[in-house]
Amino acid sequence: MADTTAKTSSPRAGAAAAAAATPPTATAAAAAATTASPASPASPKGPTSPRSPAKSATPEGEAFGTEQHIEVADDLEEPDDNDDANSAVGSSIQSSTGSLTESIYAYRVLHGRTFNAPKTSEYWAPNDEQQNEGLDLLHNAALMVLNDELFLAPIGENPQKVLDVGTGTGIWAIDFADVYPAAEVIGTDLSPIQPAWMPPNVKFEIDDCLLDWTWPENHFDYIHMRMLYGSIPDWNDLYKKAFKHLKPGKWFEDVEFDVRIQSDHAAIPEDHMFNTWAEAFYEAGDKLGRSFRIAYDGSLKKAMTEAGFVDIHEVKVKMPCHGWPRDPKLQQAGLLMFAMLDQSLEGFCLYLFSKALGWTAEEILLFVAKYRTELKKKSLCGWLQV
Ligand SMILES: C[S@@+](CC[C@H](N)C(=O)[O-])C[C@H]1O[C@@H](n2cnc3c(N)ncnc32)[C@H](O)[C@@H]1O
Repeated sequence: MADTTAKTSSPRAGAAAAAAATPPTATAAAAAATTASPASPASPKGPTSPRSPAKSATPEGEAFGTEQHIEVADDLEEPDDNDDANSAVGSSIQSSTGSLTESIYAYRVLHGRTFNAPKTSEYWAPNDEQQNEGLDLLHNAALMVLNDELFLAPIGENPQKVLDVGTGTGIWAIDFADVYPAAEVIGTDLSPIQPAWMPPNVKFEIDDCLLDWTWPENHFDYIHMRMLYGSIPDWNDLYKKAFKHLKPGKWFEDVEFDVRIQSDHAAIPEDHMFNTWAEAFYEAGDKLGRSFRIAYDGSLKKAMTEAGFVDIHEVKVKMPCHGWPRDPKLQQAGLLMFAMLDQSLEGFCLYLFSKALGWTAEEILLFVAKYRTELKKKSLCGWLQV
């Protein structure tokens, strides 16, 4: 995962004391972290709950980073292709999405899966319940690898106006609103897949982030994005919008995943499905002009710099994709990721590979089956770069 936070510079003199204190040039932290304070009591959202505002994260402290070492559990010898990853996660996962109002969906159907019906932009993954459940699993896994933090930027204890762009099921926005009841949180998306019930301080809007933003300039205290990979033709333009609509001196954060599974414990040959899979996504994204390379190719930081942000921190975190870590929390994160991937793989590929690469449904399903076989191999100790 590439979690990149950046602060706005102060475009007007004296507009923000905090911004004036930041260096005028961008700085990048190769590794950063969260505080070591304990998590707040369990919420009904799922196996972890985000921290309280008093424990909000800063980009300094305990290291994640590319040198992050995750110890392997003792029981890797069990058969790789059992289904225990799914069952171990089991009922402990509680989705925070409420009943989805199917009737307000306008959608297109591809190979039995529903996708958003684009009035403006087309999104590459389905917006049906199966895929949405995957988003919520991933949210919980992300909380676990980030030590229960919903974000890393040091946004202070009293953010007022908060925007979550491409909010998906709205799970991040809802969690954030729970933790900051005084904040007014807006989540936007192309699809109306957010629950009908939510905390009173959250609002969801159908909005295409690629179009002009209609909020006032210098409006938000914090803007958050997560997993917009493969959706954005021009990151510079998107980040410029974020810059323009943030108050001076306030923070912007984007969390993006790479699509290549890597390992520190097993050799992954160049022609392994983990690499073939990633290359297919990179190629498809390139062909559609919406890159999947952004978590590794440095373009996020570059786009933030060009948008005018300063004090840029890039944090790299390893997200395990199976229950191989010794650490119980990372093991649980890995199991959630395994469950998420297992139910989301077809959805990831169906539109993308048929439209961009011209593959048939049969070719896609065969490709997914081969990938799934490798994914089940716990002994490969795979992780994704966030
Ligand atoms: C991978 S999901 C991530 C959802 C959410 N951010 C999360 O982390 O759980 C990407 C979301 O971005 C939305 N999206 C894609 N392109 C968009 C656009 N142009 N404007 C607004 N939302 C968009 C999709 O509809 C989808 O819900």
